[in-house]
Amino acid sequence: MSAASEKIRVLTGITTTGTPHLGNYVGAIKPAIEASQDPGVQSYYFLADLHALIKCQDPRRVQESRLEIAATWMALGLDTDNAIFYRQSDIPEIPELTWMLTCVCAKGLMNRAHAYKAAVAENEAAGNQDPDKGITMGLFGYPVLMAADILMFNANRVPVGRDQIQHIEMARDMAGRFNHLYKGQYFTLPEAVVDQKVEVLGGLDGRKMSKSYNNTIPLFVSEKKLQKLVRKIKTNSLEPGEPKDPDTCTLFQIYSAFATAEETAAMREEYVGGIGWGEAKNRVFEYLNDHLREPRERYQALLEDPGHIEQVLLKGAERARAEAAPLMDRLRQAAGLGRFV
Ligand code: TRP
Repeated sequence: MSAASEKIRVLTGITTTGTPHLGNYVGAIKPAIEASQDPGVQSYYFLADLHALIKCQDPRRVQESRLEIAATWMALGLDTDNAIFYRQSDIPEIPELTWMLTCVCAKGLMNRAHAYKAAVAENEAAGNQDPDKGITMGLFGYPVLMAADILMFNANRVPVGRDQIQHIEMARDMAGRFNHLYKGQYFTLPEAVVDQKVEVLGGLDGRKMSKSYNNTIPLFVSEKKLQKLVRKIKTNSLEPGEPKDPDTCTLFQIYSAFATAEETAAMREEYVGGIGWGEAKNRVFEYLNDHLREPRERYQALLEDPGHIEQVLLKGAERARAEAAPLMDRLRQAAGLGRFV
């Protein structure tokens, strides 16, 4: 047994439909990169590009997003010798396992999935005759594909946002059914990890920073664009000299997500002391820009060398498949799909 097999296995996927922004960094990328440095952990991070097809059928956007997300994680310091970093679509065992799980998964379980229920509710609210209008089997079966992602590598822990907890519960359900039906311990039951400390960053308009609200600050925009976006962050009409409340201020929240405790405390003083919004925004811009400059340069260099990214991902897929293929063989045997001789 290799040492790696005794480590705790932490796995998470990133759906490749958007361009990474400051909120993604604070909420997901930074904690994941830090976790991957723990010698007691084997991490599996992958581009959930099969999931991307559910939401996005613009091939250029999917292709571009995959490259941008891979380059972002690498530029921010993911150690790809340590973490297993791969594209979901490079692992043919995943769709195969998806089918096996589909055949043990109750349809009723999928009827209760939040994303599907929300789509049905939208149709009903719009007065559509057919509650399933526009809903693909991809959306309906989304949690099965996600279960295959997780169970394929016997992940112990799955760091996710709150909205994904239900999917992990469903993966446990499918794992349990499969183990029971085919009388074996084929799958480990995964646990969702929702980090209470991890912040949900506010966006330009003060709502949660999210692609769907169109209020994001992309991580690696040019210096000029970054400055422009920071200036757009919504503040109130208090004049310079008037004390300001840091605790209800998105600008302050963004700053403190990046700054040290001391720097944050100093900025808090400035707020109480009545710093003007223009001045505060300049400081926040300067700070972010200083911290993003180096990774931004690495990011640009990576994008100019997609061949290197391709190689890293193929290497990751090779390591991932070295684990997936033997498990898939066992599963085939278990289900009666083994070889005759
Ligand atoms: N559904 C997840 C999201 O939208 C992405 C994802 C796909 C994932 N497969 C996964 C996350 C497996 C964790 C584990 O955020």
